[in-house]
Amino acid sequence: MFKVNENYKNLKASYLFKTVATKKAAYAKDHPEADIINMGIGDVTLPICPAATLAMAKEALAMGEKATFKGYPDYYGEPYLLEAIGNYYKNSIGVELDPEEINVTCGAKEDVSNILDIFSTDNRVVVPDPVYPVYLDSNIMDGRKVSFITGNVENGFLPMPDESLDGDIFYICSPNNPTGACYNRDQLKVWVDFALKKGAVILYDAAYEIFIEDADCPRSIFEIEGARRCAIEFCSLSKTAGFTGVRCGYTVIPKELVASDGSSLLSMWKRRQSTKFNGVGHITQRGAAAVFTPEGLAQIRANIAYYKENTRTMMKTFDKLGISYYGGKNSPYIWLRCPNGMGSWEFFDLLLEKANVVGIPGEGFGKSGEGFFRLSGFGDHARTAEAMERLEKLLG
Ligand code: MLT
Repeated sequence: MFKVNENYKNLKASYLFKTVATKKAAYAKDHPEADIINMGIGDVTLPICPAATLAMAKEALAMGEKATFKGYPDYYGEPYLLEAIGNYYKNSIGVELDPEEINVTCGAKEDVSNILDIFSTDNRVVVPDPVYPVYLDSNIMDGRKVSFITGNVENGFLPMPDESLDGDIFYICSPNNPTGACYNRDQLKVWVDFALKKGAVILYDAAYEIFIEDADCPRSIFEIEGARRCAIEFCSLSKTAGFTGVRCGYTVIPKELVASDGSSLLSMWKRRQSTKFNGVGHITQRGAAAVFTPEGLAQIRANIAYYKENTRTMMKTFDKLGISYYGGKNSPYIWLRCPNGMGSWEFFDLLLEKANVVGIPGEGFGKSGEGFFRLSGFGDHARTAEAMERLEKLLG
């Protein structure tokens, strides 16, 4: 009789966003009259920018012509897209990359978990708490030992390493999902120096880099001296360019990043990808490349500004209600304290039932998230304003 991966028994019964979606669907079924406003999962609502849709449409038509049809894409990304991403890093972020170091994939969620294939299960993993649950779950699936570094009000949800911290693989998400907190240059330098000293690797999730407003907050860990020897960076077009339904991301592994036995992590990742992955579809890659043209960048930045208007609307409401919160400025998320000492799932139920607003309970992002709640700014202006009116009525 076959055996299953026993590690799955150590997971929570359901993935956080699925649990929330199931509860929302059950409520909607029982209350068909309810006008539910979804501020839960960070899914975009604005359509994909015209530069990208036109490029995708053109490529789709080209795929239907004998002369321009193409089969399998490159395993790691078509050269024109690698060049476009490289130029984005250079011109928008100020980081020079070799195109070979950029690996185009179907998204950051996949990559932050798939990358674990190249690491031994003996590695000790350190995950911030609260944080995006995929880091924890994917390590549990592999049976790795995970410990936590606490983000809280005292450290502004930006935990820092100290001498007592030990580990081999450290996850950092900045701007953080769910708290919206963002490391500044000095703080990231401390992390990089720490990782170099320990011989550890930082898995740096930069999926929300485009939301950063503070000039002092790096948009890439490779802005920090030494990071090329200790970090892997994950990026996504999901939030940047509204590609949640298209799927495209990229992972940067510097050539200098080697294990203690001299193994190149970039070579290992490429070996992994060419075996388990057949590349991102041509249509998607054309759309992604168009995002990085001057026209595409102007269009996506307008979309980001639109979402930021939502976070400002939320911030005004919570200021008025005297409810403390984090995020919003460098992030599409608001991380608020549940009012009146409520638990986060209790607050979830209250908002769903009394205001028909869905958010994400902080406890789902880790123990330290208990007592907090995440609201997404990816909705439309009118619905966000409506949700805030309902909250004011309920909590004011
Ligand atoms: C979120 O809401 O945290 C994200 O949309 C989930 C994801 O990116 O997988």
